[in-house]
Amino acid sequence: MERNVRNKETDKLNIRDLQELLNDMSLEEKIGQMVQITGGSFENDGLITGPEKKNGLGASEIRLAGSVIGSSGADKLKRIQQEYMENHPHRIPLLFMSDVINGYRTIFPIPLAQGSSFDPEMSGRAARVAAKEASVSGLHLTFSPMADLVNDARWGRVMESTGEDPWLNSQFAGAMVEGYQGKDAQFGKNQIAACVKHFAAYGAPLAGREYNTVELSERTLRDAYLPSYQAAVDAGVSMVMTSFNTLNRIPASGNKQLMRQILRDEMGFEGVVISDWGAIEELIPHGVAEDGKEAARLAVDAGVDIDMCTASYAHNLKKLVEDKVVSEDLIDEAVMRILKLKNQLGLFENPYRDADALDEKECILCEAHRLEARKFAGETFVLLKNENVLPLKNKEEKTAFIGPQVYNHEIIGSWSIFGRAKDTVSIADALKKRVPGAVLAEGSAFADGRPGTGVMAARAELHKEDAEAERLLQDAKRIAAEVDTVVLALGEHQAFSGEAKSRADISVPDCQMRLFREVQAVNPNVVVVLFTGRPLDIREISQKAKAILVVWQPGTEGGNAVVDALYGDVNPSGKLAMSFPYCVGQVPVFYNEMRTGRPYGLAEEAYSSTYLDIPNKPLYPFGFGLSYTSFDISPVELDGAVMGKDGEIRASVRVKNTGNAKGKEVLQLYIRDHVAKAARPVRELKAIRKVELNAGEEKIVTFSITQQMLKYIGQDMRYAVDQGKFSVYIGNSSDTQNERVFEVV
Ligand code: BGC
Repeated sequence: MERNVRNKETDKLNIRDLQELLNDMSLEEKIGQMVQITGGSFENDGLITGPEKKNGLGASEIRLAGSVIGSSGADKLKRIQQEYMENHPHRIPLLFMSDVINGYRTIFPIPLAQGSSFDPEMSGRAARVAAKEASVSGLHLTFSPMADLVNDARWGRVMESTGEDPWLNSQFAGAMVEGYQGKDAQFGKNQIAACVKHFAAYGAPLAGREYNTVELSERTLRDAYLPSYQAAVDAGVSMVMTSFNTLNRIPASGNKQLMRQILRDEMGFEGVVISDWGAIEELIPHGVAEDGKEAARLAVDAGVDIDMCTASYAHNLKKLVEDKVVSEDLIDEAVMRILKLKNQLGLFENPYRDADALDEKECILCEAHRLEARKFAGETFVLLKNENVLPLKNKEEKTAFIGPQVYNHEIIGSWSIFGRAKDTVSIADALKKRVPGAVLAEGSAFADGRPGTGVMAARAELHKEDAEAERLLQDAKRIAAEVDTVVLALGEHQAFSGEAKSRADISVPDCQMRLFREVQAVNPNVVVVLFTGRPLDIREISQKAKAILVVWQPGTEGGNAVVDALYGDVNPSGKLAMSFPYCVGQVPVFYNEMRTGRPYGLAEEAYSSTYLDIPNKPLYPFGFGLSYTSFDISPVELDGAVMGKDGEIRASVRVKNTGNAKGKEVLQLYIRDHVAKAARPVRELKAIRKVELNAGEEKIVTFSITQQMLKYIGQDMRYAVDQGKFSVYIGNSSDTQNERVFEVV
């Protein structure tokens, strides 16, 4: 094959080379490119293991499989690549992919926490660090970002999303893709390809139950769910992963309209589509395919290029082509996309890319990366309540740190597959340096039930025997009674959220609530530091605690970051990216809900849209978060009250730090369309600005309102902007009443 016609600028193969390569490949080889396997079968001297064994893949299928999931390590992947290429008829390199979600070994806060920083740029920086560590370890692609909009806290994977807002999610998705790949998919040194997931609307399973049906109107899908995937596509994302769920009753992995018409034709995605793990074969239990052959046909027809870890493609595509059920053109089209990606990554020139054992030693978990992780964690903490107890005063006050999270090292989130608990700084570790001699106690188990009996966590060590639980509780009470302030570090263990971790009861487990109540009874000066992967029902805590700091699952440097914030070295500035519900019966609850015909507060009370027993409003709304200082935001001023076609209005507020500490405030601009041609949200976030102000300092912050911010999916399913009145709100949470009205003519 002629391989010397190179693109001069990039030194990569030209399309002509790739076409020649494709023409030269056998059907088996082509199908191989469309099959993804785990690394296990390359690691064990030809012994077929794991999913490959279970799926009945043979040695020749493994020899031709085009990509590997889940393995890492520079030396290992170099060896696998070398041996693989030596045995491959066209020496086409493998693509190594894995889940590098909130970091590779240096783990950043979970995505829901990142969303709560309201700082997409920081997520971009974290993605760059993750890409660096992953690339030196031999990886070429990460299955991130997850751009699924979420608003049901029962679903375990809300922790992997940046929250409930379409616009905010879009900012994060775009920033992360650029962080991994470089701007416009440059794939420079230490950059890796990104895969946005899970297309589409995986974050909306009915009743928050994992893998459940998704029922969305087309308008909601387009208005609320597609924008964040679109932002990833616009940022040049290389790959899209299908979702497990159905959409309009058709499972995504066999949904031709979704994958071809919407994703490719309308959204303009030209890269590779991969199924989620096993999702092609799941077309059988979904009840839309009779067997693996039918599943393969549906998926390839829908334009799914790679089968992640089933044998559907490997065992069926050849026969389907030979029987003329599937055209070889479909296979060629898919393989071409895969070859193009390998080429864009420069794998034909250097199949090992940045894999380098020395670089691994140097950069993984290096000081600079840890520092980024610590800084980022500090930006994600949300102060929900503070009755003058925080920040803690080290010298004058005696503080006890109690609770199962005090000693916990598993604070990196359940998707940190390469992260290690041993690398993580717990609160106890951090205190050793910052407050030597601090009083610490475990207080309780993580989960209810005795070892072996709990349903919340299969792991025995997350439970306690009754006698041990009692001893811990009594110790905690004794210690609490002797100090000025108690910091109670409570909440979800990282094993309670993530994939397949739906919860119907989203409260803090009873054993921890008992600790809270009994400690609070002996010392009311309680600060709750809440670790969690999802919004929780914290009604009781919100009434009784003096302060609440939500720290999510903060990552490798979590303990340091928490202690920084408790002692005021860092002033919390996070804002909730997902509303904290009043109780689980209110879920899903989110700020940008649709208007109804009988709105609460406006319609006759007895027949308005509300509950008999609880309020409509969440306990803490989207965008809410306090600071150790206070801010005053002036009424909104507009530079005009009328917007013409393609016009623009500038909206300003003066924000002043009226407290005693330096701090950051996140100004949020929301829009409300007064009269539209379809039901519209009560308001929608359209811009944010994070400003840092010294005590007493003030700044004027100006936003520009454009027609782009006013558009929505109109009656004919196309974007439209209405004429008439709009409100703009600028404030520091989604329930700000700081409003001005303008008109579009
Ligand atoms: C998850 C994906 C993940 C994939 C590969 C699946 O179970 O849904 O998010 O990328 O596994 O690990």
